[in-house]
Amino acid sequence: MSENLVRLIYASRAVDHAPNHARAIVASAQRNNPRLGITGLLVVGSNHFVQALEGDTEAVNRLYCFIVQDKRHSDPRLLGYARTHVRFWAEWSMAYAPMQSLAEQAEAFGLSRTGFDPLTLDSEIVERLLLTVVPTRTLAG
Ligand SMILES: Cc1cc2nc3c(=O)[nH]c(=O)nc-3n(C[C@H](O)[C@H](O)[C@H](O)COP(=O)(O)O)c2cc1C
Repeated sequence: MSENLVRLIYASRAVDHAPNHARAIVASAQRNNPRLGITGLLVVGSNHFVQALEGDTEAVNRLYCFIVQDKRHSDPRLLGYARTHVRFWAEWSMAYAPMQSLAEQAEAFGLSRTGFDPLTLDSEIVERLLLTVVPTRTLAG
């Protein structure tokens, strides 16, 4: 296990309709992340992304700097960045889940399901909220 393991969580605004890009993004992540020792979860809605990146501090920092320059999204908001000893998505080079499944869990955390805005997620709860999501390895359709 890495001694410098961190988990970074951010939300961003999709520049175009996010699901149009989801398949290509997840494919890139699943192709590149094993080599980088990165695991994580990507949640995709019509207008937003939420992503968790886990791995060595340097690898996570570098990938995040790279990802935020991607023109398919904007306004990245860092929601969580912490050292950890446990990978929550250890089995996933990049797991995928639809935003709907996150929004459905939001109510349990005292958030509005209809007015659910990933960019305003509280860093205290975002990690626990992401853990309620059941990810899939591939995208349907
Ligand atoms: C929301 C979002 C999340 C992304 N996550 C990853 C990722 O985890 N790993 C990765 O290699 N690329 C990720 N990308 C894509 C990169 O920005 C970049 O397009 C890709 O790494 C290029 O590599 P490729 O030529 O192998 O596709 C993400 C892009 C977006 C918009």
